Amino acid sequence: MGSCGNQIAEEHLQQQKEYMEQIRALMAQRSEHPPAAFVDTYGCQQNEADSERIRGMLQQMGYHFITEEEKADLIVINTCAVRAHAEQRVLGNVGALTHTKRKNPNQIICLCGCMMQEAHMEEKIRKSFRHVDIVFGPHALWRFPELLHRKLTKGGRLFETAPSDGVIAEGLPVVRRDPPKAWVIIMQGCNNFCSYCIVPYVRGREHSRMPDQIVAEVEALVAQGYKDIMLLGQNVNSYGKDLALSIDFSELLRRLNRIEGDFILRFMTSHPKDASPRLFQTMAECEKIECHLHLPFQAGNNRVLKDMNRGYTKEAYLELIRQARQWVPDVVLTSDIIVGFPGETTEEFEDTLDVLRRVEFDALFTFIYSPREGTPAARKKDPMPKEEKQKNFQRLLDVQNEISARKHKAYIGKTVRVLVDGESGEEAYPLSARTKGGRLVHLAGDRDLVGTFAEAKITNASTWALFGTVEKRE
Ligand code: 5AD
Ligand code: SF4
Repeated sequence: MGSCGNQIAEEHLQQQKEYMEQIRALMAQRSEHPPAAFVDTYGCQQNEADSERIRGMLQQMGYHFITEEEKADLIVINTCAVRAHAEQRVLGNVGALTHTKRKNPNQIICLCGCMMQEAHMEEKIRKSFRHVDIVFGPHALWRFPELLHRKLTKGGRLFETAPSDGVIAEGLPVVRRDPPKAWVIIMQGCNNFCSYCIVPYVRGREHSRMPDQIVAEVEALVAQGYKDIMLLGQNVNSYGKDLALSIDFSELLRRLNRIEGDFILRFMTSHPKDASPRLFQTMAECEKIECHLHLPFQAGNNRVLKDMNRGYTKEAYLELIRQARQWVPDVVLTSDIIVGFPGETTEEFEDTLDVLRRVEFDALFTFIYSPREGTPAARKKDPMPKEEKQKNFQRLLDVQNEISARKHKAYIGKTVRVLVDGESGEEAYPLSARTKGGRLVHLAGDRDLVGTFAEAKITNASTWALFGTVEKRE
């Protein structure tokens, strides 16, 4: 048996189920209409996956979901702390909820997610956002029914933000999005402490789910018709290191690849310090794993990388990319980059552009550094003026946009296998689809293709996407 020290015990989860039943009964007593909940999510896919659990618990408690805040009996805002911009948006929107609450004083407002786990946040919400009723961090997510029950029966304001090493709660109810896409969390937390990043402080240490649980979940999803399975973790390459089992991420992928059915396995995010040829070989040998590697390098200069505490050099990163391409020649490469890390000079930033030009990523996620209270980087001197950071950021976009446009253009005239994953709402290209490398295709074709694989002929391309028509259904 592997270690499950951070796995919540069955009896505790059972208690939460009882709270859910009690709330359902209470709500049925209070009104003949089912209560309405509004759930809003900021940030990454991990947060989206957490919100699916919040919705799952709410559904068990008898809630139905609406998209208008004013009419909601309960508002849940799942927040993100990774950059200041997201936080400001959250606080602005939470501030505006004073109006909905004035109209409906019984409305309950909950804030949860990473931002609520920040050390200084509780004080701020207590003092300046008095209309907020319940606050809890990611570690207390599984206790949401208990918190809501206490609020409904005893009133008052509740703050559940004690720091924690992180937890794994199995078997929470889930309301997922419709097929074909599903998120599967394989691990929580992060041990890396990159010097700019708040995530390890708010999500705790790395904890892997047991492989049998993950396999069972993916099997069930495939049986339900899900075809695009995204495995989530802050650093999936260190999957299993905390378990007393001899399993690593490659082995987990191989086990999942053996599940029968026509589906794709994707994963996010890989850290370069833990990515290895063993992973690339697994990608090459397992037909269900998409040929896409999201491998954030953040900065190209070795001094800056050291200051960021990233654990690799520019040369090591480029070597890793070489190996990835050797194993998976048509691998689609994407990355995250931070411009304007404290102390990074424009000369050092040239190394970031150099990596871009050498690797030629298919697409990038680019960010201007945002100081996060409590992280080492936030205490560093940051002399570069905002305008210079902005100028460097624009140069980065210019270099990448040219590369992305060129790479996308090379698809024109080709026929590629895609998974049609939804409707786009556009008239000329009513469908959206993804290639095996995860590139977005705006597709012309029948709406009944959603959820199926098809052969698509690429007819056009832009910097960000491909355009095509369905050539053959599968
Ligand atoms: N400022 C800017 N970008 C950040 N990221 C993480 N922390 C910060 C920060 N303080 C970016 C990194 C990471 C991505 C998810 O967000 O590039 O890979
Ligand atoms: Fe943050 Fe680094 Fe962990 Fe990613 S690997 S979540 S950037 S600390």
